[in-house]
Amino acid sequence: MGVHLLRLGVIVWVEGLSVKFRVNEGVKVERGQLVKIEDGSTRFIARVYGFKPEALFTPAEIARISHRKVLGERAEIFDGPLRYYDTALATLVAQVDEDGECHGPTGSPRLFSVVEDLDEEDLAQLSLDVGDIEVGWVRVGHRATGSKVSLVGFKAFPHHVLVCSITGGGKTNFGKVLAWNVMKAPEGRYSLIIIDTESEYFDGGDPSHMGLAHSLHASSRLFYVTSKVSTVCRVEFRFRYNGHELTRSIAAHPLEISWSQLHPEDFCQTGEFTPPQESLLWLAWNWYGDKWLQRMMEVDPEWLYRDLGKRVQKVTIAVTKRKLRRMLGDRSVFKPNNCDTDLIKSLVNAVARGKVVLIDMPSASEEQEKLLNVVVARRVFAYYEAMRKEAPEEWEKLPTVLIMVEEAHRYLSKSALHEGGSRRENVFSTISKRGRKYRVGLCCITQMPGELDEPIIRQQLTKVILPLPTKPDYSKVIQYSPYLERAAQEIKALDRGEALIVSPPSGIKFAVPVKIHAYEDLVKGELEEELGLRKTPSRLVSFMGLRTT
Ligand SMILES: Nc1ncnc2c1ncn2[C@@H]1O[C@H](COP(=O)(O)OP(=O)(O)OP(=O)(O)O)[C@@H](O)[C@H]1O
Ligand SMILES: [Mg+2]
Repeated sequence: MGVHLLRLGVIVWVEGLSVKFRVNEGVKVERGQLVKIEDGSTRFIARVYGFKPEALFTPAEIARISHRKVLGERAEIFDGPLRYYDTALATLVAQVDEDGECHGPTGSPRLFSVVEDLDEEDLAQLSLDVGDIEVGWVRVGHRATGSKVSLVGFKAFPHHVLVCSITGGGKTNFGKVLAWNVMKAPEGRYSLIIIDTESEYFDGGDPSHMGLAHSLHASSRLFYVTSKVSTVCRVEFRFRYNGHELTRSIAAHPLEISWSQLHPEDFCQTGEFTPPQESLLWLAWNWYGDKWLQRMMEVDPEWLYRDLGKRVQKVTIAVTKRKLRRMLGDRSVFKPNNCDTDLIKSLVNAVARGKVVLIDMPSASEEQEKLLNVVVARRVFAYYEAMRKEAPEEWEKLPTVLIMVEEAHRYLSKSALHEGGSRRENVFSTISKRGRKYRVGLCCITQMPGELDEPIIRQQLTKVILPLPTKPDYSKVIQYSPYLERAAQEIKALDRGEALIVSPPSGIKFAVPVKIHAYEDLVKGELEEELGLRKTPSRLVSFMGLRTT
């Protein structure tokens, strides 16, 4: 038993999985805190979700005492501790038996069992740090403890991960922490795809943040797709840390995809086209084959109308052409001519070799981002699906892949997945449903989980809930997730970087309060080690530049 163990109180009521304990005077118990209850040889773990003062006063006494207080006078309460005390309400989340076995609560503690603070040994028994994807520390209130929380990547990723918070809640930081874990895992175990439209991932975006390029593992594990390079090459990323100059040499690929590689399905799955417009895309595909997009883009609407046998209304042709033009953008990413490189092939290759593929497209419009997301996800999923069916032995050796989807509600909302009363699948809903079989997972990042289609929330078994103060959002997540009952008050009160995590595939079957690692801290720790420095407060890193070699 730990020496600093704090006696918090005594159980005064038990009902089902709910317990109420009298809080010792002078002790601070916080909402969300994990506590333990010793009952003989069994130990219960509970999460505090609320508070309720108990007062055994008569109405006349309340009137007398409050009146004296209003007048600013001292109000004597006779037998105070016997008639008035604070209680905390908690839910039982786990039970540790005599043999140290931890499982869901099957019993409940007896009245007057003692409630105590958790020590490191108790936390270790909860098996919160048995995985290889380290995400943060167990938290008590706003304070991080010394116990780590990690996910079991190969089990959690194929069952998908939902990351949600309001803006500025810490989603991108969590994404970087995830990417760092993937980069440092043994080669070939995992791969991750990130499409970054804010340029936050590569170098951190501004001098006060760090990016994936700062990590020691970037040279061997990062595959950087960017318009800043025009050929397949390695870029040199140089930066200073505590007076030392460091260089990473990172594999880079130009961000370019030829029109001839795009398929009508890629456009349809963005959800931007109406059924008649989709029919037109298919008609063009059947009529013109590989040249369908070129013809749609470059041929005059009147001519198309006649060429396609007058089977499509002129207005549909005009609107579809306009949408295609907007989606393909200024032709810098999606190119009309054949490209010298084959991004899709290289990207799938990088995924198969266990890289973090970072696609940096800061100037992308929402439509372009959607198209690229669909193109990438479809090709990677198709590859894994085909490999499993046609070369199962090779497929087994492939890394488990996680596809990160920012603004996931755009693809997975009720309105995106339903059209005229029928369900309309896209690659993300397909992966959500069937990806597990192929070891393809989604990491859905959203500010608006309330918009997500309910089956999607249920299918994302690992949930990382960062600050989420709006009711439609947190109540939807709570409603469709196990282990989150009674967590609403805490979710509302989280600060940035603080989370509640549930991950049944990782064995985390209750809402664990976590302080997510600051990405910069992880990388600074790594840099200190790389440079052989003692742990000292680190000075800011300054980005010096990017050079191709
Ligand atoms: N766990 C953490 N520890 C310390 N700082 C953090 C943590 N999480 C986030 N931050 C900081 O909070 C700020 C906002 O975080 P971040 O950009 O990750 O939020 P976000 O949810 O992605 O926001 P947006 O919705 O705008 O994309 C950043 O400066 C980030 O460094
Ligand atoms: Mg963000």
